[in-house]
Amino acid sequence: MGRAAMKRMQIRKAFTLMESGPVVFITTNDGEKNNVMTISWTMVMGFTPIFAIVTGPWNYSYTALRKSRECVIAIPTVDLIDQVVGAGTCSGAGTDKFKKFGLTPVKGKHVRSPLIKECLANIEHG
Ligand SMILES: Cc1cc2nc3c(=O)[nH]c(=O)nc-3n(C[C@H](O)[C@H](O)[C@H](O)COP(=O)(O)O)c2cc1C
Repeated sequence: MGRAAMKRMQIRKAFTLMESGPVVFITTNDGEKNNVMTISWTMVMGFTPIFAIVTGPWNYSYTALRKSRECVIAIPTVDLIDQVVGAGTCSGAGTDKFKKFGLTPVKGKHVRSPLIKECLANIEHG
């Protein structure tokens, strides 16, 4: 089987070739309610507990992130694929995504954002 022919790509799109990190959930609490979104544009910044995530104001989670300056990074396992796609394709504006996708919020120790019981690991970040 031959290799696909090399293609030219616009520079403004080329970044998507290396955008993906591990797929994670980001949970937030805006002071009133919990929310969860999916993020794959992630990076650990060296050998430090500092993480980079890329998102923007078109997402409902963004306001909560800016307002509270905290979140939980929850690491899903492959059996949560439907929840990962679900939480990443609808807005928390009018939906309780924990209920809708059968995820269980668990109170954290350091932040208001909830941990997710079904996840492999939860990192509180604040
Ligand atoms: C696999 C996957 C990866 C995603 N990665 C990102 C990402 O890195 N950054 C981002 O802003 N949105 C990403 N999204 C889209 C958001 O999760 C989506 O816009 C979500 O509806 C936002 O929820 P919210 O409006 O409740 O905050 C991704 C979605 C999926 C399914």
